[in-house]
Formats: sequence, C-alpha cells, structure tokens
Amino acid sequence: MNSFWNELKKPIMVLAPMADVTDPAYRKLIAQTGRPDVTWTEFVSADGLYATRERKLMKDEENPLVRDFLYTEGERPIVAQIFGSNPETIAYASKLAAELGFDGVDINMGCPDKTIEKQGAGAGMMKHPEDASAIIRAAKESGLPVSVKTRIGYSKNEMDTWLPILLKEDLAALTVHLRTRKEMSSVPAHWELAPRIVELRNEHAPDTLVLGNGDVKDLIDARTKASESGLDGIMLGRAIFGNPWLFTGRDITEVTQEEKLGALLALARNFDEMRPKKSFHILKKHFKAFVAGWPGAAELRGTLMETNSLDELVAVLGK
Ligand SMILES: Cc1cc2nc3c(=O)[nH]c(=O)nc-3n(C[C@H](O)[C@H](O)[C@H](O)COP(=O)(O)O)c2cc1C
Repeated sequence: MNSFWNELKKPIMVLAPMADVTDPAYRKLIAQTGRPDVTWTEFVSADGLYATRERKLMKDEENPLVRDFLYTEGERPIVAQIFGSNPETIAYASKLAAELGFDGVDINMGCPDKTIEKQGAGAGMMKHPEDASAIIRAAKESGLPVSVKTRIGYSKNEMDTWLPILLKEDLAALTVHLRTRKEMSSVPAHWELAPRIVELRNEHAPDTLVLGNGDVKDLIDARTKASESGLDGIMLGRAIFGNPWLFTGRDITEVTQEEKLGALLALARNFDEMRPKKSFHILKKHFKAFVAGWPGAAELRGTLMETNSLDELVAVLGK
C-alpha cells in the first residue's frame, strides 16, 4: 500500500506514544520545537470510542476520548494509537481516525496495564495471538496504513512465533519494544535481539518497516542502534521528558534555563487551552523534567510543585 511510510528517509526517528505525556499539549510543543519523522498519539480505547460514538464529533469536553486525538497540522505525519480486542470496535475506531484526518492507525499490543490486559488488549494480545490477525484486518477497513506496537514476548522471548503472526498481515510498520511484558521496564532493553526482527521481517514481510524501541537516549544513540541492528527506524519515548529539542539533535546540556522555562510555560498554556477538563497535576511530571540542570533548580521545582493552575504557575515564573 502506498502511504507516507514509503516516503520517509531512513533511519526513521519517531516519537513514542506515552499516555498523559505525549498528549495534545506536549505534542504541539514538540512539533514547534523539533518534529520527529512520525508522531504517535497516546493510546485511546477503541471500546471507549465505540461506546461514545453518538458524541463522536462533538467538540471538546463532549467526548474526552476524541479530545485525546486532537492534533495540529505541524505534527504530520501523525498516527492514532488505539487498543482493544474486539474487531468491531477496532474497525469503528480506525474509521474514526481516518475521518479525523490521521495519516495512520497503530494498534497497541504491548501495554502491561492489568485492566487493559484483562480485556485481551495491549500485552494481553500476546496471550491470544490467534486474535491479532482479525484485529489488524478490522483496522485495515479504515483504508489507513496500519501499524502495530508490541514487545518481544509475554514472559520470555517469543519473537520467532509472535512476530510472524503480525508480519503476515502485511503491516505498514511494526515497532518492537525490546522487552517482555514480564520485564515491564525494569531491565535494560534487549538490543542484541534487534537484528532478529530484521531477519523475521525479511522472511515474512519484506515491505513492512521495522522499528526498535527501549532506552534510547538521544538521536546519536538512535542512529547507532539503527545502523548496528539494520532496523528501519527507532522509536524514542522517555528521552522526550523535559526535552522537546530531542529530535533536533541539540545537546540538552546546551539548552539554557530561560529556554527550558519558556518551553514549560508554552506547554502549560497549551495544556490549559487543549485539556480544559484534565487535572493540572498531570503537568507536574513535566515540571520535574524541565526544571533541572542549573543552580537553584531544585528550589524552583519545589515551588512549582505547589502550584495548582496556569495563573499560579505564571505568577511563580514571573512572566
Ligand atoms: C508514562 C508512559 C506512558 C506510556 N503510554 C504508552 C501508550 O499509550 N502506548 C504505548 O504503546 N506505549 C506506551 N508507553 C511505552 C512507551 O511508548 C515505550 O514503549 C517505553 O517507554 C520504552 O521506550 P523508552 O525507553 O524510549 O521510553 C508508555 C510509557 C510511559 C513511560
């Protein structure tokens, strides 16, 4: 299938989906500061979107799930990530993503959250690999290029049995977080396994792009890992904390205090505008990440942690 995926220059550097982190507010800032080659939204429940379908295109707070799918044109190409284990709701959510103008749809088959797993979704899909094909086919009904994000296995490395099931569905792209579900994020990602992903792709689906994910620090690290493994691209997640400059390749130690505080304020303003129903406290993980690296940062961080609104934040920053 011809899609934006075929036009990207390799190695492809993409932004990971991270719930309550790469939300519309932070993605907007990242797009303005230094856009990745592809942006992912946070994951959204396909069942939830389906259950609220009466309100699907009403604006803002009418449907908070649709609101998680807000994006700005500067973020393109942008992929909507969904999770679910029911082909009907996956088909619905994927078609909604197409209607909302997304460039692609990604299915989460790696999330370790217990409530999601119980629905047979996220990492739970690895326990029911027979369901994965139907889910991917349902997403394809949208006409969008379909990708999957998963892990190397549930309790152990199951790549040789699990990945071919996905690859046989002729995905546009497959991202593999190089850990098992059981390992969560507590051991270093198994980058030594990355070349095997490339072999499996070559054998089962030569047209599918393969991306690796886990512990990548910056663009230099990402390029090294791509060239050592032969992967088509790398997905970076936590490295974006406090560093919307990540995809520019700029050394974060050279970013000034003023720039960091300016970026934090821009993020808080985006949040206030785009996430009116979400708790201001969600922003606090960003305070920790942005306010670091200069004398007195810890003290300012402490004061910022006490704030409860944009106005209070602005007052502390004196802007
Ligand atoms: C706060 C947080 C939220 C996350 N939310 C999602 C999500 O919505 N969908 C998903 O596929 N993975 C999610 N992940 C996993 C990341 O996309 C990524 O696979 C993981 O953090 C490892 O990559 P990294 O070491 O580059 O961060 C999340 C991770 C974190 C830390």
